[in-house]
Amino acid sequence: MKKILVTGGTGYIGSHTIVELLENDREVVAVDDFSNSKEDVIEKIKKITGKDFKFYNVDYLKKEKIEKIFQENEIDAVINFAGYKAVAESIKEPLKYYKNNVCGAINLLEVMQEHGVKKFVFSSSATVYGNQNCSKYTENMERGHASSPYGTTKIMIEKILEDLYFSDNTWNIAILRYFNPVGAHESGLIGENPQGIPNNLMPFIMKVANKEIDCLNIFGNDYKETKDGTCARDFLHVVDLAKGHIKALEKLDKEKNGIFVYNLGTGNPYTVQEMVETFKKVNNVDVPYKYAPRRSGDLPIFYSDPTKAKEELNWTAEKTIEDMCKDSWNFVVKNKNN
Ligand code: UFG
Repeated sequence: MKKILVTGGTGYIGSHTIVELLENDREVVAVDDFSNSKEDVIEKIKKITGKDFKFYNVDYLKKEKIEKIFQENEIDAVINFAGYKAVAESIKEPLKYYKNNVCGAINLLEVMQEHGVKKFVFSSSATVYGNQNCSKYTENMERGHASSPYGTTKIMIEKILEDLYFSDNTWNIAILRYFNPVGAHESGLIGENPQGIPNNLMPFIMKVANKEIDCLNIFGNDYKETKDGTCARDFLHVVDLAKGHIKALEKLDKEKNGIFVYNLGTGNPYTVQEMVETFKKVNNVDVPYKYAPRRSGDLPIFYSDPTKAKEELNWTAEKTIEDMCKDSWNFVVKNKNN
């Protein structure tokens, strides 16, 4: 059977997607350089699924090494999760982001082209919509201006993929725009494990609940647009998100060629305050917090219209906010000594 190449395979979303691929009897080849993940994730994926896959410790900027993977394996499709994702860091180090995310994607696409592999799933982000003075985002809206170089890399790669398809419409591409992925696999073996002080809400809540950080700052509680004054987001369980990739691959298998864009979100926004309160309640832990000034660049409410993914991929997020909070904490508890 031809294989699915997963770049960034030991990262947060990549690892959950490999689990789903293996559970759907797909053959997997994974690549990662552990720049933001740990090696033991490989064994943990094998433990969860009881299945094996091939792994290469490779930086996807090294084109000759990617070439070698294509020579050694019969690749059917590529899912590209490799890429840096810290918004604040991207503002401080834009070149690092443009080089890694954009050049890495170009490398992959060039090697794919040379080997006649044209099926590509791209890990994009809802950040490509920018601020359009609305709260619910639909795929047919224009891309906006991203608020960070990280977001701009996603916009640039989406554009590169469109141009590539325009130049050669035998390509078969799915662009998946994620909203706010949280949670972890229910086994507690894999989850999100950012290095240092996290930027995103859920990893921060996890560190406060685990007493590694004293207190959560809730950035802004005076937003008129939301029910309790804190920002609202479309939080989405990472396992649901991973399943969206399987559905996208099935779509590409069926279509043969095209370029398809999908929002992956629940369509139901929850506020930061609701997230914190739910986390405390379902896990019976304390999460001390205080209100802090608004964080620059934050939109009051930001959520998906998930209709297109439902209609065309037959995908809907199924897990609840309680599942997201429970599974995130379970991952912390199970990994306390690591
Ligand atoms: N927040 C806090 N305290 C924190 C961290 C976050 O109150 O310590 C708040 C933020 O102000 C925001 C909400 O929690 O209102 C969510 O913030 P995140 O940083 O978790 O997520 P964002 O919505 O800002 O960003 C996410 C992804 C980005 C992506 C963006 C747009 O992390 O990669 O959505 O899709 F670009």
